[in-house]
Amino acid sequence: MPLPERHVLLCTSDSCRKRGARKVCKALRKALAERGLKRRVQLVPVDCLKQCGHGPMALVYPDATWYAGLERDDVPRLVEEHLEGGKPLEARLYRRAHGKRGEG
Ligand code: FES
Repeated sequence: MPLPERHVLLCTSDSCRKRGARKVCKALRKALAERGLKRRVQLVPVDCLKQCGHGPMALVYPDATWYAGLERDDVPRLVEEHLEGGKPLEARLYRRAHGKRGEG
């Protein structure tokens, strides 16, 4: 089996779950299947990514791209633009993760 090109670590824990992470997870799983990307992109539901309160949070590797506040409606663009096209979804980037820790 080939190695996936990308992994999407999606937090489905506590506060992210309360903010709709399971809906995002379900929509993402469905979108990856529909677009034939299940082997290229591995969706990994994970426990807390330690950025609670900003969720649903996701981290895409190998890009090391953080997303915050993902909604189910973001999934089609996330899949098409980033997971297929390689261009991060600007509107949901979690900028705090890029060198500004501790600022709120
Ligand atoms: S519960 Fe999702 S980052 Fe902590």
